[in-house]
Parts: sequence; structure tokens; C-alpha cells
Amino acid sequence: MAKKITSRVNWVGKIDWELTSFHGDELSTHRGSSYNSYLIRDKKVALIDTVWLPYDKEFVTRLAQEIDLNKIDYIIMNHNEVDHSGALPELMRYIPDVPIYCTKKGEAIIRGHYHQDWNFVNVKTGDTLELGDTTLTFIEASMLHWPDTMFTYMSGENILFSNDGFGQHYATESLFNDAVCEVEVMQEAEKYYANILNTYSMMVTKKVQQILAMNLTIDMICPSHGVIWKNNPTQIVEKYLQWADAYQLNQVTIAYDTMWQSTRLMAQAIADGIREILPDTTVKLYNVAHEDKNDVLTEIFHSRAVLIGSPTINYGISFAVAGLLEMIKGLKLKKKKAAAFGSYGWSGDAVKIINEHLTSAGLEVLGDGLKMLWVPDQEALAQCTEYGREIAKQL
Ligand code: FEO
Repeated sequence: MAKKITSRVNWVGKIDWELTSFHGDELSTHRGSSYNSYLIRDKKVALIDTVWLPYDKEFVTRLAQEIDLNKIDYIIMNHNEVDHSGALPELMRYIPDVPIYCTKKGEAIIRGHYHQDWNFVNVKTGDTLELGDTTLTFIEASMLHWPDTMFTYMSGENILFSNDGFGQHYATESLFNDAVCEVEVMQEAEKYYANILNTYSMMVTKKVQQILAMNLTIDMICPSHGVIWKNNPTQIVEKYLQWADAYQLNQVTIAYDTMWQSTRLMAQAIADGIREILPDTTVKLYNVAHEDKNDVLTEIFHSRAVLIGSPTINYGISFAVAGLLEMIKGLKLKKKKAAAFGSYGWSGDAVKIINEHLTSAGLEVLGDGLKMLWVPDQEALAQCTEYGREIAKQL
């Protein structure tokens, strides 16, 4: 069912309460998500974005209950990943000649996905589309987070339609940020930023500053996932500037895998040493074989330092730790300190391998790491605690 945003704008998207993972299985979505599509009725009618493919018929059926599809004058595609463009083919079956406004790269992506010769209109930053009493202004936002991404600003209602930017995977029927739990929404917004946008932080900073310099009055930010920022919309803009600037809380995260508990015992003893030197610092431990990878990644995102531990397995590291290190590399974290540790039985290669991964990921590696043969006894655990103290002193 459509939901009213303003007298001229209705939400016509899909709340996906069932979604538990996104991008295949790359990103966990514990609180579901939504695919937000917006219908603007002025003298002209514009539809902003569609929804994910599995909901294409449902979307078009409900849209047709809201408005005669033939009355739609323009389709605006801010971003063309399948979660926003998936329902386009079904919609275009009914209105094949309606122009689709998107960036040049957006057109290439739509053509690459759906292989249709629709009526594309390429737009650039500053291009406008008059709807009557209101005007849409397009702002390219390449690599936030795909090359085709753009934002659309609506004058008159002072709404920034930001697609993935400022979004969260958060299902709610309430739509607006002031109608839901603020803590939950900010957790999901940070997780979304850390896992999807942090890689492009330099572009985020530049784009946010560019938008702020445009001196637009922004009464609402309408992203394509999760809640609409209606109450104090600048709060999420300010958060983005913080998150994009090597964001850190006073936290150290220890992420490890363990075969027979030796690496876990090491992790605990190292944590004791860190807490001893830095009593005000939060130290969190995660067994990455059991924990949600994206939640661990979000903890690492906002940590001062990360310690990665793995037993040596067949001259290598554990599958879970290898996956985490690959994800850390993808995030392009800045100003993050790191260290390695792990137990071993004979070759003891894991610590060296972890350090190589951390270095290639751009983290500042503190020393050669610590490895312990077989099961650490009290003396070995005391060495681990001392190692924790040494790491803490370098933070
Ligand atoms: Fe929500 Fe990049 O798609």
C-alpha cells in the first residue's frame, strides 16, 4: 500500500521483512530491509526507482492501484543495481515509451542487465526536470557505491532522494526515522556504511561537501533502503562525514578462529594485557567462525586496532579468518593498527600470513606477531598477556 510522504510524494516501495542476506550472502540483514520507490504527483508525474526483481509484479500491481500507469510521465533511476531496477522490465511492459532518466553509466547498466532499447535520457549534475510547481535537480554521485549512482533533489518539497546513500537495511512500516528505535536505525546505518560505502569514503566526503556547498534546503532525505530521515535529516549527513574520516571509537577488536581452543586461550590472555594498560578501552572478542562476518567487520570498522588470530592449518590460516581478511582488505580502512597471533603444532605459518594480509590491506602492523606451540601453559599465557600490554602501549 502507498504511504504518504508529503502532499505530492507517496512511498510506493516494498518492505522486505523476510530478507536475511543481501548481495547473495555477502551482507547479513538481521532486520530485513525495504526497497523504497517514490511517486511524485505534480503537473507531471515522476516515479523514482523501482524494487527488487522478486517483487516486480507485486510492485506494478500496487502501483497501478495507486495511479493509472499511463499517467506516469518520467521514470528516474538513481541507481540500477537489481534491488532498484529489478521491476523495470515488468513496469515497462505497460509503459514502454516513458523516458527513463539516469546517468550515462546508468543507461549502460540497464542495457547490460535487461537488454532493452528503452527511451533513455542521460542526465548530469545540475540538469533539471520541471514537474510543474516543483523541479528535480540531478546530482551525479559516482561510486556511492556504483559508477551509475546519482541523487535527485526535489525543490518545493526540499527532498533529497539519495538511493543507497544514507540508507539502512531496516524493515519498518513506520517509514520515518522519528517513528522507530534510533539505536537500531543508527546501528544498521553504520553497518551499511561500513560494509557497502567505506571503500569509497574519499568520494563520500567529496560528495557530501559538494552537496553542502550547494546550500540546498533539505527537509527530508529519502534513501532507497530503510527509514526516511525526516527528523533532523542532517544527523545522518554529519555521521557520514565522521564515518568517512577514519572513524574510530575507543575500542580494540580481537577476531580469531580456533581449532582446539589454544588460539582462543591466547586471545583471552592478550585481551587481559590490553585491558590492564588501557582500562577505559572497550576490548571485544569474536570467534569469526561463529559470529556474523558483517557484524564483526562493523566492529573492526570503528575500532582503534584489530588483532587477528588463527591457528596454523596445513601451512595456512583458517577459512573463516581468510574470508575476514579478504573483507577487511576490501574496506580500505584508514589509520587502523593491527597485529597477529595464533597457535601452531609444527610450521607456524599463520602469523606471518596474517601479517602479510593486514599489510596488503593497508593496516599498520605492530610487530611480527605472537605464535605459541601446542597448548599454551601458564607461562605461555603470561607471554600472551605481556604481548597484549605491548600492543596496548603502541595504541
Ligand atoms: Fe541498494 Fe546498490 O543497491
